Amino acid sequence: MRKNRGVKSKAAMSAGIAMLALATSGTAQAQDTTITPSDIAAAHARAVASVRSMQPAERTVMTHGIMAMQLSPDSPPPPPEAVPGAGYVAGLPRLGLPALTESDASLGVAWIGGLRHDGATALPSGLAQAASWNPDVLYAGGRMIGGEARAKGFNVLLSGGVNLTRDPRNGRTFEYLAEDPLLAGTLVGAAIRGVQSNHIISTIKHFALNGQETGRKFVDIRIGEAAARESDLLAFQIGIEKGQPLSVMCAYNIVNGAHACDNDWLLNTVLKKDWGWKGFVMSDWGAVPSLDTAIHGLDQQSGVQLDPKVFFGAELAEKAKADKVWSARLDDMNTRVITAIYAAGLDKHPVSPGGKIDMAADAAVAEDAAKQGIVLLKNEGAILPLAAHAQRIAVIGGLANLGMLSGGGSSQVAGEGGPLAKVSVGVDSPFAAFFSQAYNGSAPLAAIRKLAPQATVTFRGGDNLADAVNQAKKADVAIVFATKWASEGLDQADLTLPDGQDALIAAVAAANPHTIVVLETGNPVAMPWLGNVPAVLEAWYPGARGGEAIASVLMGQTNPSGRLPITFPASVSQLPRPVLDGYADLEPDFMGNPPTPNAKLSANYDVEGSDVGYRWYARTGAKPLFPFGYGLSYTSFAEDGLKVDGLKASFTLHNTGTREGADVAQLYLVSRNGAAKQRLVGFARVNLAPGASQSVDLSIDPRLLADWTPSGWRIAGGDYSFALGTDAQHLGPAVSTRLTGKSWKD
Ligand code: GLC
Repeated sequence: MRKNRGVKSKAAMSAGIAMLALATSGTAQAQDTTITPSDIAAAHARAVASVRSMQPAERTVMTHGIMAMQLSPDSPPPPPEAVPGAGYVAGLPRLGLPALTESDASLGVAWIGGLRHDGATALPSGLAQAASWNPDVLYAGGRMIGGEARAKGFNVLLSGGVNLTRDPRNGRTFEYLAEDPLLAGTLVGAAIRGVQSNHIISTIKHFALNGQETGRKFVDIRIGEAAARESDLLAFQIGIEKGQPLSVMCAYNIVNGAHACDNDWLLNTVLKKDWGWKGFVMSDWGAVPSLDTAIHGLDQQSGVQLDPKVFFGAELAEKAKADKVWSARLDDMNTRVITAIYAAGLDKHPVSPGGKIDMAADAAVAEDAAKQGIVLLKNEGAILPLAAHAQRIAVIGGLANLGMLSGGGSSQVAGEGGPLAKVSVGVDSPFAAFFSQAYNGSAPLAAIRKLAPQATVTFRGGDNLADAVNQAKKADVAIVFATKWASEGLDQADLTLPDGQDALIAAVAAANPHTIVVLETGNPVAMPWLGNVPAVLEAWYPGARGGEAIASVLMGQTNPSGRLPITFPASVSQLPRPVLDGYADLEPDFMGNPPTPNAKLSANYDVEGSDVGYRWYARTGAKPLFPFGYGLSYTSFAEDGLKVDGLKASFTLHNTGTREGADVAQLYLVSRNGAAKQRLVGFARVNLAPGASQSVDLSIDPRLLADWTPSGWRIAGGDYSFALGTDAQHLGPAVSTRLTGKSWKD
């Protein structure tokens, strides 16, 4: 009989506490999840009783929902109590169960083409937040967007995107967090805690192995169990342990031959049996192929207008009436949905539209996240921060006079009044409004002018190359903003900056040796001009106050502290799959539908297995353009004194420079019994005054040292070596510890 421990393992708990304390560097932060496994157990007991009192007609009310929007003039409008948004699931007032009003998503309350005519505060992209390596940033962001969702009448936020960024060309990389399971899982757990602290439900998604957008509804991901458990599934497992999400959204793609939402292994064996998870699995929108998905672990059919039919309504009720197994499964489906409602407190804390939102305070949360996530990639001759004496500054390109680029798709957020500018990408579908190149937030040009009142700051769009070059020639410093749009539903052909921006940067750099490049990209990009510019910032999609954040770093009010959560390849030839499966063969289809009913597409993730990202570079020896964990500062740091004893590690960080800054120490496993194996096993973001030092203690989650075997995790006895790194490629001296072999199940 399994002890009901929920999904909180002791090792994860201590590792989480150690890291959260260190990441907060002294600021008090709730050390455990807002909703605890025991809250969920209590809610489960209540839910069992509620299900027992259900009447037959009520049994399939909460097992399916609609898109809360009218998809075409002749389709029925959603019920009046549905808030225009991603989803609506009717409630059961007789049992005191509220309807579920669902909005996207991880970066804020989605704009959805302005259906509600109300904007929201856009967080920086997932990668930007993750580049802070700071769970507090993710918690604060989740808490903020969850608060806005509640104020707009939503009690479910479809957030918690945590798919590992296996392929840097994936169109949704901007939404996700990292290529490493510990970093991604820790950060998404904090974000989910923040969202759910508003008494609303957060999802964690897209379960699982949704690693590309090309053919997303029919690509079959082939991967061995050990590789999955040690990488993508471990990110979800850590995120669920730390965040306690009350819903999991299963993905569109196929995993080893079975749709993720119809995958008995993923949903029943891994998630519900092995991990003991008590919430409910909702489908992605249009991801339900049959009624049998209920038996394979799906609990709720979302957005039924996008499926061939409503499976989880009358058809399910009939099955349950005729068959005891189905009836018991239907009880379990309802129990899981109602457990989530009770555990989040949706019944006791009902939502309603029209709540008050402090937009200034929320914008400040977005700005802080952007500042902590900007990565200084190059700073030759300390050209940055821009000295106050820079009298003539030429700002060029990137619509820097207007605002910040944002990623396309269901996660897209716009401010009050909608996008500042929008370029349609010609999607021919009811969802065209979701897929556009939209600019939001704040203009870096205005923010730079505000911080450099003494300077003459000119702007040129960059489309007239000669004019831009002429401006650069006349300036002390040229700042070129380069953008690359990314979107759900569409992977990137390559790593190249579009629209001739590489030529623009090269021409400006040739005209002015003091040229700084600011990148607003959703993904890693190639930089053919890198040798010709002294400074590069990766600002990602920096959200509602991105202009202020970028200016603050450029002018020096903020010391950049971001570290890459994803490797920047030197070329796609370094990747496990240089050609992205299906990209060249398929017409772009934002919904990822197969071109013909029996179209086939597969991607072999066993090439790299669990060696995703930096682990792959460690295995192949290839040198990336910029490694995982890389980032510069306006001060300098040293790390020493590493000791590892069993699963305990300690070391000291020093600020050896002249100004305050945050260091992000990274502890890597580097070998096991003499065999090279690189894995991030701990990290700590610590703010340090100039000259200050701080000792750090970390607990190592044993799963990060282990192999997955058919009987669970296995650590082989022997010598394990570790090293501190300023990034995955620059490691200090290794130290070893001897571990005794052990096997266990979570
Ligand atoms: C989308 C996305 C998912 C989103 C859902 C509702 O297609 O895959 O992330 O939450 O539909 O909009």
